[in-house]
Amino acid sequence: MPNFAFINNKLVNFKSAKIHIEDRGLQFADSVYEVIAVLDNNLIDLDFHLKRLKYSLRELEIKFTINKKNLTNIFLNLIKKNKTRNGIIYLQITRGIQFREHKYQKDLTPTLIVYTRNKSFNLPGKNYTGVNTITFQDLRWKRRDIKTVNLLANIIAANMAKKKNAYEAILIQNGKVTEGTSSNIWIIKRNNLITHPANSDILKGVTRTSLLKIIKKTKLKLIEKQFTHNQLINADEVFLTSSGSFITPILKIDNKKINNGKIGNITLKLAEMYTEACING
Ligand code: PDD
Repeated sequence: MPNFAFINNKLVNFKSAKIHIEDRGLQFADSVYEVIAVLDNNLIDLDFHLKRLKYSLRELEIKFTINKKNLTNIFLNLIKKNKTRNGIIYLQITRGIQFREHKYQKDLTPTLIVYTRNKSFNLPGKNYTGVNTITFQDLRWKRRDIKTVNLLANIIAANMAKKKNAYEAILIQNGKVTEGTSSNIWIIKRNNLITHPANSDILKGVTRTSLLKIIKKTKLKLIEKQFTHNQLINADEVFLTSSGSFITPILKIDNKKINNGKIGNITLKLAEMYTEACING
């Protein structure tokens, strides 16, 4: 357990950190969040995270002004205090506190919550592993581009995966793959690398955005286009990306092995390139 959290303007003891019972984040999931990886004390893809946070806040008209310097100070302070050399920073901003009513008032003061958690990552090297997944119906709302804590449909799917000893559930909408419950999904067929376009059907992942830059340095042909369940299970290689999982190979989907259940060469190469970019900034 971490020792400290940051709530509004204060560093507080993690165990006794509290928010109000009429905080709209609690009552309505009226709230946005980010998960930022910390690798060897480095904040990974910080600018992309702050840009997406700004976007989520703006789309929901939550009036919180992002000050990069202040937030970075809070992050670095927590990393130090909680000794989070490798792990994640969790940041959540709720609309604030108000008597319970669906309609919100304009002048609320947002609640800021930040803390860190230690975590070891699945990075290329001798312990690099691939994962099992399941497919599951995408039951979510229509604004998945906003990173809100409104995650019940993701939770139902993720727990179905857990019941089946799988790491992630790949969400299917009208026969097409959207994304994972907390990751973006990619398939490789011959020289083509295919992933869902960044529209309101998926979250535009920060790891996804970073990987797009890396792909330009390879001979792969990037195709941002919807793909079917059939294309998914017949792909040469499949992998997922997220700030918590970096680039993780998918070796099994439901009962079908991908690439004979082995980590594919292209996935491995991309993971190596991405990790290298994270370490060297
Ligand atoms: N989830 N899609 C969804 C639905 C997600 O929740 C996430 C991240 C991603 C990948 O985004 P990024 O590369 O920016 O992490 C895609 C975070 C890690 C979480 O909820 O824990």
